[in-house]
Parts: sequence; structure tokens; C-alpha cells
Amino acid sequence: MEIKEKIESLRKEIELLNYRYYVLNQPTISDFEFDGKLKELENLEAEYPEYADPNSPTQRVGSDINNNFVQVEHIHPMLSLSNTYSEGEIREFYDRTKKALNEDFEIVCELKYDGTSISLIYENGSLIRAVTRGDGTKGDDVTANIRTIKSIPLKLHGNNYPPLFEIRGEVLLPWNTFHELNEEREKNEEPLFANPRNAAAGTLKLQNSKVVAQRKLDSYLYYLLGDNLPFDGHYENLQAVKNWGFKVSDAIRKCKTIEEVLHFIDYWDKERKNLPVATDGIVLKINSGKQQRNLGWTAKSPRWAIAYKFQAESAETKLLSVEFSVGRTGTITPIANLEPVLLSGTIVKRASLHNEDIINKLDIHYGDSCYIEKGGEIIPKITGVNKNTRTLFLGEKVTFVKQCPACGTPLIRLDGESAHHCPNNSGCPPQIKGMIEHFVSRKAMNINAGEETINQFYDNGLIRNAADLYHISLQDILRLERWGEKSVANFMESLEVSKQVPFERVLFALGIRFVGETVAKKLANAFHDINNLMNASYQQLISVDEIGEVIAQSIIQYFSEESNVKQVQKLQEKGLQFSLSEKTMAERTRLLKGKTFVISGVFSEHSRDEYKELIDKNGGKNTSSISSKTNFVLAGENMGPAKLEKARKLGIRIINEYEFLKMIND
Ligand code: IVH
Repeated sequence: MEIKEKIESLRKEIELLNYRYYVLNQPTISDFEFDGKLKELENLEAEYPEYADPNSPTQRVGSDINNNFVQVEHIHPMLSLSNTYSEGEIREFYDRTKKALNEDFEIVCELKYDGTSISLIYENGSLIRAVTRGDGTKGDDVTANIRTIKSIPLKLHGNNYPPLFEIRGEVLLPWNTFHELNEEREKNEEPLFANPRNAAAGTLKLQNSKVVAQRKLDSYLYYLLGDNLPFDGHYENLQAVKNWGFKVSDAIRKCKTIEEVLHFIDYWDKERKNLPVATDGIVLKINSGKQQRNLGWTAKSPRWAIAYKFQAESAETKLLSVEFSVGRTGTITPIANLEPVLLSGTIVKRASLHNEDIINKLDIHYGDSCYIEKGGEIIPKITGVNKNTRTLFLGEKVTFVKQCPACGTPLIRLDGESAHHCPNNSGCPPQIKGMIEHFVSRKAMNINAGEETINQFYDNGLIRNAADLYHISLQDILRLERWGEKSVANFMESLEVSKQVPFERVLFALGIRFVGETVAKKLANAFHDINNLMNASYQQLISVDEIGEVIAQSIIQYFSEESNVKQVQKLQEKGLQFSLSEKTMAERTRLLKGKTFVISGVFSEHSRDEYKELIDKNGGKNTSSISSKTNFVLAGENMGPAKLEKARKLGIRIINEYEFLKMIND
């Protein structure tokens, strides 16, 4: 045999072995034998350089020569697909297509592989060029790197292919190689790749194709285009290209009805988790090439295809700006404004950046591409920055503001706290508005005024604190937009009614830091009226059940500010309740003084909360768990056996509700 023929036949044989190994997953010879054949070819090529061929299997190892990526124009622009996220939109696509075609059609369902797309050009059965998507019109020539991917044929099998064609697909890094790569990078203290897509895209752009070869990229081809294709149908063409040596997924189905399509989606939404590569959705394509041409393209995407995206738990998007918002209590919250992105079914435009420490830890810059996730909170959070996408034009680093964005007061950050605070609570507009909103809220004074109304009153100079609400006149309001006789009357009426709101709720409405509904109740019960509370010493405060250091300090701080005391006085003058009502006082006894209770089980005469109140009102103390300090266990039906056992062991008196009611002479 002539040398040239010998070389040619070895190349063919090795390519076929590669195909069986990397595309079909069915190796037919041992690695040792394979290496022997490759070595033999390498030796021959070294000896006869005149027969060199860039598409020889020996070239798949890459080279150390720096790749200079040349920009090449795509023959057909590489458009993207329009995305949907709901069954409804899939049905719409189906109906739209049906109407436009007005004849039978088939839909091919495929997996949407989450890698980086590539366009391959073959001429006379040889790979002549591989180009990245780039901007869709022009991309980078990455042929040298693509040659290292063993599942991409350099020479085609058989001879049934068109003399010149383009085939597109996805270059991927399988999960296991992705994890190995990251482990390796961690050891070398190199930055980690966030996901297989970034890793694949980054790898394709490496200048050293030898390194690319070691990365073990894989591929799936999903779109054959050009003239003289073997079939009219997309599905049939994909089956044909398998025989030319391309790797085409078996997770592909031709569907006739919408039900079949939805079934495919449902099935793969679960099953994709078992695949060796990352997928992020399903692509639907009208099968017939003729029908595809009939439907045509928009400027951005084909009308004959659509992508259904699986709901992402996390997403990546660009940081546009950071806002620092001032809360009702003066806490500053950094909020990121993002390029809108879909996350678990909703479009996300804002995410929390929490506090200064987290911002610093993220090392986040304006314009950065960042990862967001939805936790339990309504507003998503930024969990990381994709530093691989940074360019030379890196935006400024995000830093925490030093002054209140609303009133300019220098911010404070207390020792041991992560949050910044604006201390100007009586002069900082968002704090004032927030305080008033809290004051009017349902669980506080329950006044007929929402956020919009408070803003309107504030912006028109009618209110500067909660007490001002009671000084607004009918005429003041009627001058404002959106108000009519009826709504003004409603508002005025709710103001009047609020004057009967009991002391503990008025106390809660004041918005003293750390004084929530429960604490307000405790304080009202312990001090009876506002003057006692205002004059209470630190010691007196902390001696109240469940009132600790932080709450006590906060109360003292609140009443040390003149503006707060003035506001309370004004509210008192307007007739709000600043002491326990006579009725409440009359109901109070010292019958249970010094007695500690634990309530357990279900009762028939009163609810558990009512029993708790009765204990409170009669001077007793409620606790939640049984200890040697417990005097009585008030036991209802279905009391837990463990509790019962414990009470018995400690010799604590167990009483039923009737015995209890007798104790308080009810
Ligand atoms: S077809 C004109 N099929 O999704 C239609 N694309 O947003 C060309 N992709 O850039 C694309 N799996 O990188 C097609 N089975 C599949 C795909 C797929 C992944 C990617 C591809 C494309 C993007 C579209």
C-alpha cells in the first residue's frame, strides 16, 4: 500500500473508533490498542509532512501556538429563540402556527442544552470552520479548539452529505468534568466557574488549544441548514446526520398534538436532573422545512421555533445601580437595580444587597453580572458575582453610603450590628412617613389612610408627625386631588374612632423601636399609663416579664427625645387613650400574684389566649415550659403526655379550666 493510502486509512479507522467511543458510547477496542494506532499515525505524519492535514485525528490534542481568534461573518445569521415559561404560551404558539399554516404539521421537541452554541461548516466532508455565535452576525473562528472535541467529526462518514453545509449545535462541559475542573482550580487557587455554560464558553475562547483538549468538551448538534439537505423534515435530517458521525441527542420526539408536546415537557422537567449535561428547557421546532420557510423569521428569532424554559431557581443578570432606602426606623437597606430577568416565574428587577459586610464580601462592581436567588423573602438576594464576564471597562466598586440618602445626616453603625442607621428620626422624611404609616396601620390606630395618602399629606405639608393627623381640617383635605366629600368623611370618622383604641395599641402605634404588639401589651399591663412608663427607670423596666436590656434602652432613648414627648402630649390632648381603661383596671386583681402558670391543651369555656389574658389581668405570670418554678399547669383536653409526665414528676398542681375559673372567682 502506498504511504498516502496507509495514512488515509489509519485516519479513517481512528476517526471511526473515536465516533464509537465519544458519540455512540460503544468503544470497540481497548485504550491501549487505540493508543498504538494513534502513535503509528503520528509517526507516519512526522515522517511524511507533505501529507499533513489539520483534520487528522492526531490534531485533536491541540497545539501550544497562540490562537488569534479571527472574526468571521456567519453565512446565515445566528438568531436566538423566543422564550416562554408557561404552558399557556406553548398553547398560543401551537394555535398561532396552526392558524398561519392552515394545514397539518408536526412539532419536534428537543432538549435545550445549556452550553455555548457553535456553527460548523463542512466542505466535501471535512470540517473547514467553526465559529462562535458572537453577536449573531459575526463570531470568533475557534476551529482549532473545536477540533479537540472528540464527538465532533473532522471528516464525515459515508458520502451522502451535501458538498457544503452548515450544522449548529451546543458545546458542553458535562457535569462530572465541570466538577473535576473546579476541584482542580480550587486546588490551584484559580477562580471557579459558576456553571458548566460559563466553563464551556470560557474554554472555547482559550488561546491554547492543548488546554482545551484536556478539558474534555462534548457536543450535541441540533440544526442542519444549507441547500440540498437530504430531507424536508428537520427530524429526518437530524437522524441522517447521525450517520455522518455527528452526535445528536436521543431525547427528541416528533409530536402531532399539543398533549404530546406537554407530555414531553413534563417528562424532561423531572428527568433532566439525571442527565450528564446541563439543560435549561425544551425547544419546539416545526418539522417541515417548507413550513418553516412559510412561517419565516422575525428580526430576532424564527417564527417556526420556540424555547420553553424550565423555571430557574437562580438566575444571572446585570447590576445597573444600587439604591439605599431608608426604613421607618432609619435602617438603611441597599437595593440593587437589575436588568430584568426571570426567576421562578416572576420578572426580577431588584434584589437585596443586605448590608455593608455582604457588599464588601461580594466585591461587586457596577455593571457586574451577578447571580440572584429567591430565598424565603419576597425580594431576591444577590448571591455572587460572575467575575469571568468582567471586561477591561470594569465599573466602580459598590460602596456603602456614608450619609443618609434622604436627609444627609451621617449614618451610624452600632458595634456588633451589621446595619447602618440614620439617627435623624424626627427630621428624616422617609422615617417620618414610615412612622406615620405604622401609626395608622390596622393593628395600631386603624385609621383610613394608606401609604399614598400619607405621602400626599406629607408632600402637601399637612403632617410632620402622627399628632398632626388630628389637626388636619376638612378644608385642608378637600383642596387635595383625589378626595371627595365621602372619602374625607370616612377618614375623619376613622380618626374619631381611633380615639377609643386601647392604650396598649396606642403604645404600639408610637413605633418605639423593639416595642411590638406583645411588648406593648406587657408594658401597658405593667405601667398602666404613659406617665408611669415615661418615668420608669431602667431597673423598673427590666423587672417586667420579658422586657430585656435592648427594649428597656430603646424605651428610655425614645422618651429622652423632646419631639417624642411633645408628640405624646399632643396626642393626649386630642383624647387618645394613654392609660388602661377603667374597665380594664376594674378587672385587674392580685388574686394570682406570684403564681406562675403553664397552659397546655384545648379548652371549652375560653380560648388559650383568653386564659393567658385572665392570668395576666389577675396578676399571675404566663410561661411556656414546665420547670420547678411552675406553680400550676392549666390543663385542657389533649395535653401532651410528656408535659403531663413532667408536671407529675415535679409535683406541680394540674388544674382544669373550672378549677382555674374558681381561683379568680369568675
Ligand atoms: S435551535 C434558529 N435547538 O439555545 C434556531 N437551540 O436561544 C437555532 N440551544 O443559541 C437554535 N439547545 O445555543 C436550538 N436543541 C436546541 C438547542 C438550542 C440549546 C441554544 C442555542 C441557541 C439558544 C437559543
